[in-house]
Amino acid sequence: MMEGTRDSVDAGDPGTGAPGPAGPGTGRAAELKALGRRYALLPLRLFLGVTFCYAGLDKLADSHYLAARTDPQSFYAQTLAAKPHSPVGALLEPALHAPTFFALLIAFGELAVGLGTLVGLWGRLAALGGATLSLTLFLTVSWNVSPYYLGNDLPYLMAWTALLLAGTPYLSVDGYLARRAERDRARGLTEDAVRRRTFLDGSIAAVALGGAGLLVGSLTATFVRKKPGPAAAATPAPAQSGGTGGSGGAKVSVAAADVPVGGSAAVKDPASGDTVYILQPKAGQYCGLSSVCTHAGCTVDPPRNGALSCPCHGSKFDAATGAVLTGPAVKPLPKYTVTKDGDRLDLGAQSS
Ligand code: FES
Repeated sequence: MMEGTRDSVDAGDPGTGAPGPAGPGTGRAAELKALGRRYALLPLRLFLGVTFCYAGLDKLADSHYLAARTDPQSFYAQTLAAKPHSPVGALLEPALHAPTFFALLIAFGELAVGLGTLVGLWGRLAALGGATLSLTLFLTVSWNVSPYYLGNDLPYLMAWTALLLAGTPYLSVDGYLARRAERDRARGLTEDAVRRRTFLDGSIAAVALGGAGLLVGSLTATFVRKKPGPAAAATPAPAQSGGTGGSGGAKVSVAAADVPVGGSAAVKDPASGDTVYILQPKAGQYCGLSSVCTHAGCTVDPPRNGALSCPCHGSKFDAATGAVLTGPAVKPLPKYTVTKDGDRLDLGAQSS
């Protein structure tokens, strides 16, 4: 009844507030307008809910995400790569000390936020969780993206802000609890009793939903998690021998036999500490490429089918030149010279 009254007034001129001309067509248009206003945030809510569920499950299904620290695609390695470039780098220390705990916290946090948003249970709290996760990723993974609009975590933060302000009052558990609270008040229940009942039932629903998320996430991590593919498998440890060379400091080299055509071996640049891939894109042609994605600093995957892919936002780089094949990155991967010395490959200076 109240909704109907408000909708009739809204059907008037939006500029003056004057009621529109009477007639069945206007009434229908007013209803549609009111419907549009009411559900304006529903597509955004569905998108964010599905995306965060998918992101959480995708992490739990990823064999590298929870892998050992030596895996360049692990949560630990990605956090370590982001730390020097982040304005809150010092705050990442706890995540580097307990990477498994924080990796699971983020994955299950995304899942919980996604589920809460989809069913509209404690929608503002879920939106706050989503905004916190997006802000964290913006300040770490996306901080160095230039121009800023190519990074995707800032738009997510803004999207969550809209849900944080509006809540999830329609087609939601929150909406159901609110309507029931109104009925309880109408039949004379005290405000305290109404609040207690609403909170208790919301808590029961939250525990049930959290349990379902925990179960689905655990099953995904246990049964869906894949083994690392051959190209992404752990690369041999770098051999660092005495003398000078490379980008300064200790000489860095690997056995040529460890770098097959189309494959790579990972070494550390002694100057920066960054992981560098020594690659052989064509028989007898060697080069070195930094593993640090030029979009926002994630560690790119080892080469596969002539390209290095970034797991964070999908950039792809040419394995022979480091050139960008697919954005959002716009700058090529920094290149290193590699020279063959007998049966070994020596990492030289950064050349671009
Ligand atoms: S960090 Fe965004 S694509 Fe690599």
